[in-house]
Amino acid sequence: MSDLRLPKAGTIEIAPSILSADFARLADEIAVIESAGVNIVHLDVMDGHFVPNITIGPPVIAKLRKCSNLVFDAHLMISEPARYAKTFVEAGANHVTFHIEVADKAEDLIDKLHEMGATAGICLNPETPVEAIEKIAPFCDMVLVMTVRPGFGGQKFMPEAAQKVTRVREIVGPDIRIEVDGGIDPDTTPTVVSYGADTLVVGNAIFSKPHRIAAINAIRNACP
Ligand code: DX5
Ligand code: ZN
Repeated sequence: MSDLRLPKAGTIEIAPSILSADFARLADEIAVIESAGVNIVHLDVMDGHFVPNITIGPPVIAKLRKCSNLVFDAHLMISEPARYAKTFVEAGANHVTFHIEVADKAEDLIDKLHEMGATAGICLNPETPVEAIEKIAPFCDMVLVMTVRPGFGGQKFMPEAAQKVTRVREIVGPDIRIEVDGGIDPDTTPTVVSYGADTLVVGNAIFSKPHRIAAINAIRNACP
């Protein structure tokens, strides 16, 4: 458990996704982004079932927790989020996002996360209409709009999926964060921020670059 909190809405936050980082040196990679002044690290959890890829789980997150003071933003791309949410919070996730496509009792899971002291996020895939989260979104702390199909880093930004951010912002107002994930780089940043996104997940555009800090600053400079 950790008492770090997702920053309140009202700031633009860059949440580097370690999916494209060097997995053999994760603690070092996270230390570098921490030194660049980011507040959040985005941890992509994939189960090989909800998405066709497998990444990390609670044991890795628990070890990273000992090495970092960043807010851990766990993006659960797994088929049974309710079954595993507690384990992720116990491992050190401060914020847990699950997918609406696999959540039959989304409201209960949001309550459960809040009771455990974590913040809660709901995510929608590019094909999922905003109506799917309309009722539940006001109870979340952050809505995650996928701008690629989940499963892999380094994919091409989907502009039509990003447009949904405008509608999500109308629904949630100014106090709930909207995160975008997939293909975010200095070229796509102005668009998503102008739509109302305030939390930018960035994987490849940081960790494929030799200079991580310069890459983070390039995203910052691209914010309108
Ligand atoms: C994709 C993951 C993303 C991914 C983003 O399924 O949810 O967080 O790491 O990577 P980039 O920024 O490379 O598109
Ligand atoms: Zn993600």
